[in-house]
Amino acid sequence: MAHRMFLAFLALIGATAIAAVLVTGGKYYVTPIPERAFLSEHKMMKPSGTYGHGLGIVGSAMVILGIAMYSSRKRIKALWNLGKLSSWLEVHMFLCLLGPTLVVFHTTFKAGGIAAISLWTMLSVMASGIIGRYLYVLIPRNVKGNELTAQQINEEFDRQRAALLETEVGQQLLKHIDAQFARIKRPENFRATVRSYRAMGALKTNTRREVHAMIKKRHVAAKTGHYIERIITSRVTLIQRSLVLLQVEKLFFYWHAIHLPFTAIMFVTLAAHIGVALWLGYRWIL
Ligand code: HEM
Ligand code: HEM
Repeated sequence: MAHRMFLAFLALIGATAIAAVLVTGGKYYVTPIPERAFLSEHKMMKPSGTYGHGLGIVGSAMVILGIAMYSSRKRIKALWNLGKLSSWLEVHMFLCLLGPTLVVFHTTFKAGGIAAISLWTMLSVMASGIIGRYLYVLIPRNVKGNELTAQQINEEFDRQRAALLETEVGQQLLKHIDAQFARIKRPENFRATVRSYRAMGALKTNTRREVHAMIKKRHVAAKTGHYIERIITSRVTLIQRSLVLLQVEKLFFYWHAIHLPFTAIMFVTLAAHIGVALWLGYRWIL
């Protein structure tokens, strides 16, 4: 519940920021480029105007902050106990989605010179981030959001097994689901990974339905039933993710190999763009 409110809060900030920009500059952005100079808003909304320039600065600051805070939480050991890594990633995603959006308004939808390289690399990294997010969630993690090692995955399987063995219905369900998933082979290439992930998804839905029906039929106490269903769901999810883990990690490695150099190109060209702007005498309100 608290997590949902946190996400809703981020979405509200994002929507408010975009609405505020559209209310102020909507008319300017939809006016054809040659006619914009005749609008009263031009002085304020153009990329070097007080408002337009500010959007570039605030948007870039958001992207820099989004990377710096996530990278620090991920890499600096002293910060490892500070909230879940997945929540930090959500803030990274928020800042690195809203920041580029504000930067796009800063450009007033025209791009030339070295700034265009910065713009297109930024938008590519943003798009690749969305793909990366899908791979990220497939990697098994602990409650703090840190990646599980192979040994920790096995320990988790053992913990789930022990919990299910506590009840008779749990024992039967354990045997049933393990037998179902044992038939799925570990995929060896990208296509097979997609195929078996999908097959397991369908199996997972079926299994959950069967488990629910069996618990109901046996008149298991509601609290115990919920407990068993929760463990079964996490076991089935863990089986599904660990079967495709090798392939997903390989893809995630390639994904980093694209995401990181593009980020570097973006920053180098952004530094050049800021340098040129300062050289031309654009100081914003400073
Ligand atoms: C990733 C971040 C940024 C991107 C992608 C970006 C991109 C652009 C683009 C495409 C333009 C319009 C070029 C044209 O008129 O064809 C522009 C103009 C401008 N940008 Fe940025 N910008 C970014 C951040 C910044 C920052 C942080 C500053 C402040 C130091 C800034 C200062 C300016 C100024 C002053 C202009 C107007 C230049 C002129 O009219 O000659 N930009 N930017
Ligand atoms: C201009 C926009 C963006 C830039 C420059 C950017 C940059 C980065 C960088 C440098 C990292 C590596 C952090 C590290 O390992 O220390 C990263 C990780 C990541 N980003 Fe972004 N990102 C952007 C937008 C996004 C968006 C929009 C999403 C998703 C909606 C996203 C999702 C991710 C994910 C899933 C990771 C991997 C986390 C991990 O391996 O631990 N990014 N990003």
